[in-house]
This record gives sequence, C-alpha cells and structure tokens, in this order.
Amino acid sequence: MSTVVIVGSQWGDEGKGKVIDYLAAEADVVVRGQGGNNAGHTVVVGDQKYALHLIPSGILYKDTVNVIGNGVVFDPEGFLNEIDGLEAKGVSTANIRVSDRAHVIFPYHKEIDRLSEESLGDAKIGTTKKGIGPCYMDKVERTGIRICDLIDEEHFEDIARAQIEKKNAIIEKIYGGEPLDADVIIAAYKGYAARVKPYVTDTSIVVYDAVKADKRVLLEGAQGSLLDVDLGTYPYVTSSHPISGGFAVGAGIGPNAIEEVLGITKAYTTRVGMGPFVTELDNEIGDRIRTQGHEFGTTTGRARRCGWFDSVLVKYSARINGMTAMALMLVDVLSGFETIKICTGYKYGDEIIEHYPANLSVLEKCEPIYEEMPGWTEDLSNVTTYDALPEATKNYIKRIEELVGVPAKIVSIGPKRSQTIVRDKIYRR
Ligand code: GDP
Ligand code: IMO
Ligand code: MG
Repeated sequence: MSTVVIVGSQWGDEGKGKVIDYLAAEADVVVRGQGGNNAGHTVVVGDQKYALHLIPSGILYKDTVNVIGNGVVFDPEGFLNEIDGLEAKGVSTANIRVSDRAHVIFPYHKEIDRLSEESLGDAKIGTTKKGIGPCYMDKVERTGIRICDLIDEEHFEDIARAQIEKKNAIIEKIYGGEPLDADVIIAAYKGYAARVKPYVTDTSIVVYDAVKADKRVLLEGAQGSLLDVDLGTYPYVTSSHPISGGFAVGAGIGPNAIEEVLGITKAYTTRVGMGPFVTELDNEIGDRIRTQGHEFGTTTGRARRCGWFDSVLVKYSARINGMTAMALMLVDVLSGFETIKICTGYKYGDEIIEHYPANLSVLEKCEPIYEEMPGWTEDLSNVTTYDALPEATKNYIKRIEELVGVPAKIVSIGPKRSQTIVRDKIYRR
C-alpha cells in the first residue's frame, strides 16, 4: 500500500494542483473525492498553464489513471468543456474514470446558488456559483440525481422532469425567479450523458484494486480544511469534506487505506469569499502579497484576501487531518519583505486562545499575536537545493515546522515543476 492524501491546509488555493502534478509523475492513480468544479487547480508545465477544475491534476501524465470519485458533485457541461480544452492542447483524456455514484449538477443548482447568494445580501457566503451547495443539499435530502441515473436511458427523463418541476417551484415561489425550461435541460443532459457514459464505472473498485496491488495512489484534495462543512469556519465553508477523512467516503475506500497526509500549506494565508480571517492584511502589505503572489482566483478571477501565516489555523488543520508532512508553497512570494510576521496565538479580550474556536463571533474578535522574523531579499526562483536557500528563509521554514509540529518535506519556490525542493520521500514505497 502506498497512498498519499493531499489536503489544503488553509482556505484553498495553496498550490495543490502543482504538488499533485509533481507527485503524479510517479503515481498510478490520482483520485478526486469531493467538491466539484468550484476547485481551480493550476499546473504549469514549461510555458503551458493548465487550469483544472473537475479533472484530476494527474491528467498530464498519459499512463496515470484519473478518478472522479463518488463524493464529487459532477457538472457534465463543465467536465466536457475541460475535456475539449485538454484534447485541444494534445492531452489525452482516455484515462479518466467517473463514478456512477457521483451526484450530477443541473442548471437549477446553479440558479438556486445564485438566487440564494443574492437573497443573503451582506450575509452571503461568496460561493463560486457553480451549484455546489444546492447539489449537496439534494444528496443529503436523498432526492439527488446521480450519474447512474443520468446514463439510464429508460428512466432519466422522468426523474429529471419531476426534479425540474420541484426546483422551478422553489425558484419562482421562494426567490421570485424565472422558471427553467425542462425540455431544454433534458435534451442537453441526454447529449452530455452520451459523451460521459464511456468514462463511467464503479470507481471504488478501481481505487481498491490499486491499493491492494500496492500501487501508488494519490488522493487529490480540493478546497481547504477550513472550508470543511463540519470543521471549517461554518457557515462560510463549502458543502463537503475537504479534510483527509473525506476521502474514506468520497473515494469509497476504508480509512485504513490512507497512509501519508500531505498538507499543502501556503507560506502566508489567503481566502476567497466571505468569513473571518484573523491575520488578514487589508492594507498595502496585503496588496503587495497579492501582487507578488498573483493572488487572483483560478475559477472566479476574484482577488484573494491575503494575510500573514497563521500557525493557530495550520496547527488545527494538522490535527483534524492527521497531517504527516507539509508542502510549504509560494515561499518565493515573500522575498523582499524586511520582516515577516507569523501568528502564534489569538488574543480574545484578556484571554489567549491557542485552539481554533468554533464560534464565529469569538473568531471575529480575535486579534493575532505576532512573532516577527527577519525577511530575505534574494530571488528564490532558481534555487535547487534546500541548503542553498538563504538562512532567513530556512529559519522561517523551521519556525513554521516547530509551531505546526509537522515537517515541511516539500518547499516550493515557483509555479513550475522544476521549482520544487523535495527534502524527504513522500511515498512510503
Ligand atoms: P490549488 O487550488 O491549491 O491547486 O491552487 P491554485 O492553483 O488555485 O493557486 C495556486 C497558484 O500559485 C497557482 O497560480 C500556481 O501556479 C501558483 N504556485 C504554486 N506553487 C507556487 C510557488 O511555489 N510559487 C509561486 N510563485 N507560485 C506558485
Ligand atoms: P481549490 O480547490 C478557494 C470557497 C468559495 C466560498 C466557499 C463556498 O481551488 O482550493 P462553494 O462554491 O464551494 O459553495 O463556495 O468556498 N471555495 C474555494 N476557495 N479555493 C477553492 O478550491 C474553493 N472552492 C470553494 O470561495 O467562499
Ligand atoms: Mg485553486
């Protein structure tokens, strides 16, 4: 057995796509287990940049099998657009497998996502409007339409028509919106079904067989741990389980199949969407991080909120994921800051908080306690060994490891495959 789970340690966009692509060179199978095309994973190969949303980031290696597991919410239109985009760039998509148990996103999910956000006004979540939450709501309500239904030529139309009717009632009566045309949706989805069908299978068997055969399996997390619907900054979260435990359900494997848990961790903090963010820098330092790190969303293009590294948050993430190692990403972005701050605790009134609180009205009032470290001026993007990094950079990395209690086995100093320093092996075998 040699399975590695990749999770986002913070609020997403930590550089998971880059690390998956890097580790996929030696992987047999890469698996997405939750979320949908709300994810935006960037992979840079040479001069070519790939933005992947639903398709696993192992796709750029022709022999790697890429699985979209049962826990994913699947937008067929988005999936087929990605397939077409990849094929146009000469990337083969033959090795993709899609779970027959995954739930399907329909136009009414996107419409309800949009209307619900609009109706929340200032209290909105800031979703990607991809219909993720409404699709997971149907799943939990036990009324969702799965891929096995989508490709079921005998029953699909009836199931879809009944569901569209129900959703139109919600769109019209609750939100005062315009009803959707059932015939148009059904015709489009029948077309998608025909194209999606060849990829569909029972993916839990694919993953199980790979694990049993001692193959290298990479479980590709999407989003970030603080966006987990149970353990994140609820309600400013996504509707799934981006933490390592989410894979037992979302990939359909036993939890004991999970060995290494690699937390992809940004050397600072970013967040897209609303919700509390203790170390946020709503000032020129935050602007500088955003500019140096090109911190604009891969999926929605929104400017990401930026702040200093928060060790309270990442330590929490390490605990809830059972993190065995970190990949410390975008370290190069911090070059040129005279001093760099790390948050080591939260001050809440007269109290010092060391563990991430559940209650957002507490979190909103928390003030960061900072430790200051000397920065470095050197450009790191051409450094090839850990030893060659400036002393100040190594001290910063060491301090993060101490505070989080997990080793940084990978240090990333640029978006390219070559800009990756691996200090210790990730696969056990
Ligand atoms: P993901 O959602 O976790 O896969 O991350 P995104 O792809 O949304 O955002 C990470 C961004 O940082 C992408 O544009 C990557 O190409 C880029 N990136 C990844 N690692 C590094 C790094 O070490 N340095 C720099 N400068 N950029 C990086
Ligand atoms: P990757 O995989 C960053 C955020 C949205 C919003 C909240 C809920 O690229 O790291 P949703 O559309 O999921 O209902 O939105 O979650 N969000 C992400 N933020 N990276 C992501 O994915 C995200 N996926 C969802 O911005 O705050
Ligand atoms: Mg992203």
